[in-house]
Amino acid sequence: MCGIIGYCGPKKPAQVLIEGLKRLEYRGYDSSGICVNESANQLCIIKSKGKIKELQKKVSPQLAGTYGIGHTRWATHGVVNDNNAHPHKGCNGKVAIVHNGIIENYEKLREVLTEEGHVFTTETDSEVIAHLIEKYYTGDLERAVKDAVSLVKGTYGIVCMHADEPDRLIGARNGSPLVLGIGQNEMFLASDVTAIIAHTKQVVYLEDREVVNITPTSYVTTDLNDQQIEKDIEQITWELQEMEKNGYSCFMEKEIHEQPEAIKRGITGRLSLEEATAKLGGLNLTTKELIQIERVKIIAAGTSFHAGMVGAYLLESVARIPAIAELASEVRYRNPIIEKNTLYFAVSQSGETADTLYAMKELQRKGATVLGVCNVVGSTIARESDGGVYIHSGPEIAVASTKAFTSQITVFYLLSLLLARLRDMSFENGTKIINDMNSIPAKIDKILAGKNKIMELAKKYAHYPDFLFLGRGINYPVALEGALKLKEISYIHAEGYSAAEIKHGPIALINPDTPSIFLIPNDSLREKVISNMKEVKARKGKVIAVAVEGDKEVSDIADDIIEIPETHELFYPFLMVLPLQIFSYYCALELNRDVDQPRNLAKSVTVE
Ligand code: AGP
Repeated sequence: MCGIIGYCGPKKPAQVLIEGLKRLEYRGYDSSGICVNESANQLCIIKSKGKIKELQKKVSPQLAGTYGIGHTRWATHGVVNDNNAHPHKGCNGKVAIVHNGIIENYEKLREVLTEEGHVFTTETDSEVIAHLIEKYYTGDLERAVKDAVSLVKGTYGIVCMHADEPDRLIGARNGSPLVLGIGQNEMFLASDVTAIIAHTKQVVYLEDREVVNITPTSYVTTDLNDQQIEKDIEQITWELQEMEKNGYSCFMEKEIHEQPEAIKRGITGRLSLEEATAKLGGLNLTTKELIQIERVKIIAAGTSFHAGMVGAYLLESVARIPAIAELASEVRYRNPIIEKNTLYFAVSQSGETADTLYAMKELQRKGATVLGVCNVVGSTIARESDGGVYIHSGPEIAVASTKAFTSQITVFYLLSLLLARLRDMSFENGTKIINDMNSIPAKIDKILAGKNKIMELAKKYAHYPDFLFLGRGINYPVALEGALKLKEISYIHAEGYSAAEIKHGPIALINPDTPSIFLIPNDSLREKVISNMKEVKARKGKVIAVAVEGDKEVSDIADDIIEIPETHELFYPFLMVLPLQIFSYYCALELNRDVDQPRNLAKSVTVE
């Protein structure tokens, strides 16, 4: 949440900052701003409510400077307006900061600083950092930043500049990500690599309570006690081109279409037909340790939680290991009991979700082994987990997660196969799972080829105010995911339920204006779900069924049908979720919504 960037080097900083902010916009998009050294010892701050393009209108392409900072905001403290947008400055206008995170003790600090004569001009928690730095500044910005942050309680990723220290930026992090980019006679600081990948692929990830002091040609990393820290330089593996829309109208559309390739990337080199098993190098567990696992617990938020629910179902049914998925935000504060031989997974596309990260740390503190299932290489969860698996789906920019979901469940299919083959799954059944897995990308392609029919259905139904999404078994989490997708990008109210549950309450909602989307694969629960569908029809509810091609019984009952290819019953989540993503996407288009940047949301939720 909130994107920050800093630049010092020979290019015009305003241009570099705005271009970087556009790439960070998915982290927050209610307001933005930049600060550059317009002339010697003179800082110039420009801010704007709204998207980065509003800021861009205010910034002259001729704006000079040699160093600067920028910010795109997702408001936590203070309304959305120009004034509360970052960067913030102290009283004399010489210090400017951008901040991502939450300063929990800002009211107390603000009170003390006000008594000392500091005048605050915004409603934000972040402004206290600028005033603290100003207070402690005696000619050494790095020192002042360290003195300031040591008084701060909460989370921060900050970048600071001072008018009297040209071409120097100080970055500091605690709980909010910060990455250093090393270029040719230029340096960058940013919340994530997307902002700087156009300039460099050499990066250094900062850890909590580290401070970095950069000039165009140097960087020094220290802790808050001035102890120098040697950091490894890492290479970004993503390509700039992967972060472009590449002809699609928006990132969500592109990412929906990328799923067959993303799944192929997720399984490449990880399936062995010779041994009828999966190979997952990053687990950091011996075969003996894997065999000793008695239960699995998966923690995650949002779409990743739904993927975790599919994962838990697979681990139980394929590997016969008791497994459960839990909301990370709930686990953290429940004083969780760590049971012996329990393996934990933290699932997170971004690898930065605060709820998941802090739950993981709480579990680790109590002695649990937590493995990460992440997309973003070098993200905090990926680095701080005890091992894990990258999903390799490539950058996911749209706020609504699509390809990350199918790639996350891909990892759980592999994991379940691996663990099952270490237990009692036969070679023959292992081979079957590999073959079924390999057939999924082509089946998804087939669904994508039929997207126009789903578009027509979206046009027909987008103006209904409420929807139910109903599925059972392994497709129950898919129903939850379908409802989440629809509400987050189209703002249509939607609820996901197990189809069996509707008679325990939700069926009271059924009327001609509340359509139900039923997920009806060819599986052992098919007849039960058909009965539930009849119950809805009997109450004059409209029904859209997602069912296997040629399923006459279902198409005779449903008002509309979306057909998917047949597969092994465990693999339906891949094929069920695609139509739901496409349906939500077209509903959002029909309602003229901002598909990639829906209201009130941000891609990476780095605050609690
Ligand atoms: C998905 O469409 C949402 N934007 C959201 O629920 C997301 O999945 C959640 O915030 C978790 O994010 P993560 O995977 O990056 O941890």
